[in-house]
Parts: sequence; C-alpha cells; structure tokens
Amino acid sequence: MNETCEIQVDDKIFVPYISEIKLQEIVAHVAHEISCDYAGKSPLFLVVLNGAFMFAADVLRKINTTCDISFIKLSSYDGLSTTGEVKQLIGLNENIEGRDIVIIEDIVDTGITLFNLKKDLIQHRPNSIKIATLFFKQESLKVDLKVDYHGMIIGKEFIVGYGLDYNGKGRNLNEVYIIKEDNM
Ligand code: IMP
Ligand code: MG
Repeated sequence: MNETCEIQVDDKIFVPYISEIKLQEIVAHVAHEISCDYAGKSPLFLVVLNGAFMFAADVLRKINTTCDISFIKLSSYDGLSTTGEVKQLIGLNENIEGRDIVIIEDIVDTGITLFNLKKDLIQHRPNSIKIATLFFKQESLKVDLKVDYHGMIIGKEFIVGYGLDYNGKGRNLNEVYIIKEDNM
C-alpha cells in the first residue's frame, strides 16, 4: 500500500479499504433488492443517525417505491443492562402502527443496538420490520438478529468514512478506510 494513501483520524492511522465507486455499486445492489421487495408497498424508512446519513442519502435516492423517510437517534442513557449500554430511542414522531418499517443503519457489529431498537419498535405495533445495513460484521454478532439486507460482510477490524466515525471524526470521508494493523 502506498504510504501517501494513509490518513490519520484522531490518533489512529487508516488505509483505503473501499473506493467511492465500489461503495456506489454496493449501495445500488441494496437499493435494487429493497425496491423489488417493496414494489407496490409504501414502507417507512427509519434512518439511524448519525452514522447512516450518507448511506441513507445514496440508497434512498435509488429506491423507486413510494415511501416515507424519518430519522431517529439512539442516545445513550445512564442505565446499564446485562448486555451493556442501553440506548434510548429518540426522534420517533410518526405513528408506525401497521407500517412496514425498514431500518437503515451504517454497520451491524454485535447487533445489540438494533436488537434493542427492534424490540422498542415492536411495541408500537408496526406490520413488519426489516433491517438494511451497509456493513455487517457477521463474525461479531452476539444476538439473534436477522439482517435482511446488507451491502457487504466485513471482518472485525475498525473502519471509518462514508458516515462511519472514529471518536466522532472521519464521517465526511467519501471512501471507507480500515485501521492500519500496526497501530491498534
Ligand atoms: P452494535 O450494537 O455492536 O451492532 O454496534 C453498532 C454500532 O457500533 C454502529 O452503529 C457504530 O456506531 C458502531 N461501530 C461498530 N463497528 C464500527 C466500525 O468499524 N467503525 C465505526 N463504527 C462502528
Ligand atoms: Mg450507527
């Protein structure tokens, strides 16, 4: 790898992993799958901020079915559960009863975040809930979570860019970078 391609994000060095062109191919594939499955339906896409903002902007403009789009956030709160940090759902203003929900997420790692989100959403009695994530760290999955659409399965290594951050930085990068092995 050419040394000049390396970038520093906060205190870590990252190297290029997925190019802008490849990302758009991956996103188009996910959009196609969702468009086929929801043809003639009117799903509500719930975009999980902050990380999914770029993926959502690109994937949603390639989806050609009538839909609603809303943005939610999962804020940490003080309580601890047996599974670790519990995140509270904020920003859900719509009545989702009877709706077909598609959660748009940047990355599924242990799956705990979306497992809990799904559990919260089910209490509002939607007709269905599916998950669309750009990246899926399948080997890290710790809970029984069905990931319905994924752009790409990746290993456990940390990545940044295209919405994904390291310590709040790097979200604006238009390619995805992976942490350089010797600076973990
Ligand atoms: P989970 O609950 O373990 O599935 O955590 C998912 C969340 O962890 C994502 O929404 C990200 O905010 C964060 N995350 C996990 N892996 C990465 C990564 O490689 N880069 C950036 N954020 C990550
Ligand atoms: Mg996220």
